[in-house]
Amino acid sequence: MTDKELVAAAWKAREMHSALFSKFPVGAALETAEGRVYLGANIESSSYGLSICAERVALFKAITEGEKNFTRIAIAVKSKRPPVAPCGACRQLLADYALNIDVLLSDEPGQFQKLPLKELLPFPFTPEHLK
Ligand code: THU
Repeated sequence: MTDKELVAAAWKAREMHSALFSKFPVGAALETAEGRVYLGANIESSSYGLSICAERVALFKAITEGEKNFTRIAIAVKSKRPPVAPCGACRQLLADYALNIDVLLSDEPGQFQKLPLKELLPFPFTPEHLK
């Protein structure tokens, strides 16, 4: 799958958002080393703190399907202040399970910028440190 196709998948995933309170829909598409793609969108709760980001939905879906190796994640989000990058909690979880992936940030369908997760989270705390 090309970067562009993964970004398009994230925009498609965004349509499934449940951003009832923030009205800030986000989509994510996480690719495995085998080429499978897991989609996520943000899901919010009336108890706001229970809400979950699109990235973590995609990651948790993949993990609970037995996936262990990841290559890229695309994130689709519209903002007046682009680019929008994953929140700290999502960076940590991605580092825990997918440290070596590239992150594709897309603020408009068809457009994106690509950077390694390691650039978004330098000096990460990882499962290696618990050994
Ligand atoms: N959100 C994401 O889903 N991903 C991000 O990268 C940033 C923030 C969600 C969480 C919440 O549902 C809404 O966007 C506003 O913070």
